[in-house]
Amino acid sequence: MLTLGVESSCDDLSMALVEAGRVLANVTASQTAAHAPFGGVVPEIASRRHLEALEATLDLTLKKAQKNLSQLRGIAATFAPGLVGSLLVGLNFAKALAMALQIPFRGVHHIEGHLWSAALENSVETPFLGLAVSGGHSHLYLVKGVGDYQVLGHTVDDAAGEAFDKIAKLIGLGYPGGPAIDRLSERGDPAAFYFALPRVKGHPLHTSFSGMKTAAVDYFRRHGDSPQFQANLAASFQAAVVRALSTMVARALQHHPVKQVVLAGGVACNRALRAALQELLQDRDIRLAMPSPQYCTDNGAMIAFTGEKYLEGSEDSPLSLNAFARSPLGQGSPGRKGL
Ligand code: KG4
Ligand code: ZN
Repeated sequence: MLTLGVESSCDDLSMALVEAGRVLANVTASQTAAHAPFGGVVPEIASRRHLEALEATLDLTLKKAQKNLSQLRGIAATFAPGLVGSLLVGLNFAKALAMALQIPFRGVHHIEGHLWSAALENSVETPFLGLAVSGGHSHLYLVKGVGDYQVLGHTVDDAAGEAFDKIAKLIGLGYPGGPAIDRLSERGDPAAFYFALPRVKGHPLHTSFSGMKTAAVDYFRRHGDSPQFQANLAASFQAAVVRALSTMVARALQHHPVKQVVLAGGVACNRALRAALQELLQDRDIRLAMPSPQYCTDNGAMIAFTGEKYLEGSEDSPLSLNAFARSPLGQGSPGRKGL
């Protein structure tokens, strides 16, 4: 069923049209340049820009897919988690459009969308282990189907993307930091600086990035900031984050012998992480599904895809569904019975 997906949880407004799981168009209005001078996302700017971009983004999405509004059969939008002002713009737009067109609406959890983003281009079979790594999450899930998510492990402090962004800021690489660290690491030595593998007592599947961050700040203060030092610190820090995440996956596989692992979220763009997981899994004959970079970062396609799955089963959400800054995935659903 032709489904429009609206994603507006942070600083990108993205809309997509998906039909029978296939992406017909995905259009993203990026605000990166507007936030870069501030070194991070300014919530008020983000929501205002979303509001300004709604109409043109919808028009362009329909045009690219060569569809019109009357052909839509369902609308999905991210309802949580994220910046509430940003979420409300996309969510209310989607609900109003669904009401005007008298078609069903579905709220989708942002991380749930990320977990299914690998299915946009790959065949994905359940059960799978899903590692969602973004600016706000570093969570490992056992996914048994749409709506069936069990958290196996997570960071107990910073998310991986947040840690990359902070270290990039420290080195002076600007915002967003993850891609800058990825690029700079190419010229650095990943073994130049030692970072201990994080341990969370009693929780072998949890991880932590705050200790690494403190160690990086310490190295920065002690060793100056020559270009080679910066590249070495970036490469060593990146290697440590990748080691922590790969360890989470390797440990989870000991207890959950799945045939497929899905890597998702903005940090899934990271080339070292992609390579490390590929290496880890090919030795064990487990398939790795990763979205292409355009579907790793926030996109409307993952929301439309997930929304379509629910709507195909007539699992729509009430138009009273609100936006939530925080909402753990797997605890309640925004369907008519949940939340
Ligand atoms: O999923 P996403 O687009 O938005 C959130 O849901 O947070 O993820 C954004 C995060 C940012 O922290 C960004 O620095 C990080 O993903 N990121 C990367 C790379 N590309 C984006 N981190 C490491 N390496 C990259 N290549
Ligand atoms: Zn995201």
